[in-house]
Amino acid sequence: MESLPGEYWYESAGGSTVCGFYLIGLADQVIEIEFLDFDISCEDGGLLATLDGWETRGQIFPSGTDHPLSMVERYKTYCGKNEPSMTFISSQNVALIQYRIPNKGQGFRIVVRFIEHHQPCNVVSLEARGTYTLKNFGRKQNCSVSFLYPESFSVLALDVGKTGLMSIQNWETGIVAKCAKEGFADYVQFLGGEGLDTSIMYPAIDVCGLDSNPALPPVMIGCKHSVVRMVSSGNFYNSVNFVFQTFADRFQRGAFKHCLLD
Ligand SMILES: *[C@@H]1O[C@H](CO)[C@@H](O)[C@H](O)[C@H]1NC(C)=O
Repeated sequence: MESLPGEYWYESAGGSTVCGFYLIGLADQVIEIEFLDFDISCEDGGLLATLDGWETRGQIFPSGTDHPLSMVERYKTYCGKNEPSMTFISSQNVALIQYRIPNKGQGFRIVVRFIEHHQPCNVVSLEARGTYTLKNFGRKQNCSVSFLYPESFSVLALDVGKTGLMSIQNWETGIVAKCAKEGFADYVQFLGGEGLDTSIMYPAIDVCGLDSNPALPPVMIGCKHSVVRMVSSGNFYNSVNFVFQTFADRFQRGAFKHCLLD
């Protein structure tokens, strides 16, 4: 895993292991990968793949349903004369290069750059504690912040499904729970699971409404992966500001029942 810009190269020592080069930038960055050299023949299963996102154990982030591009556009494979020619730019702050290079001495060379991205949607957070504001910028788009840790979330401010595209005075509704079940098209859900794919994670709670000083108890997700996901219809400017921190005690009050930490 790398979060530093610069030149990287790989030269195979032989063997058919599949390796992954995981790249991650800051929340408001996307990743540019430029191929300088590419020498991977197709024989014996030699291959390099680029993914617009991350994959571990068959699970992908952002999930297929939350990404503007299709899987065919996001996942490309190369070998032999079929070289990655164009510069690759990710849609979010994570990207992955997977490779299997059985021929000793073959390999590739890349330059990695991190580019500012002013309206981030899907994000993987490397930080285990901090604060974040997830926004939809008025768009019809579902956005997730994914944590590779069990996390406790405290909502500091919520404005979801209330502030329309035209400026109309809004009354504070307080935090409304079970918005998805009630049929609201805009809500924020807190998810937990054992992998990266948000579409198969367990929802702990979902909320909507307008509350500038919420008194919601912390949402504790005792899973290997925890996610804050915002579902947006495009009819509202949604935002949720929250504090996140790890917690160690699996028996802590309120810890999420669907996952128990090892
Ligand atoms: C966002 O997610 C909801 C519920 O998971 C889904 O019904 C909707 O189609 C999604 N919207 C977009 C733009 O993908």
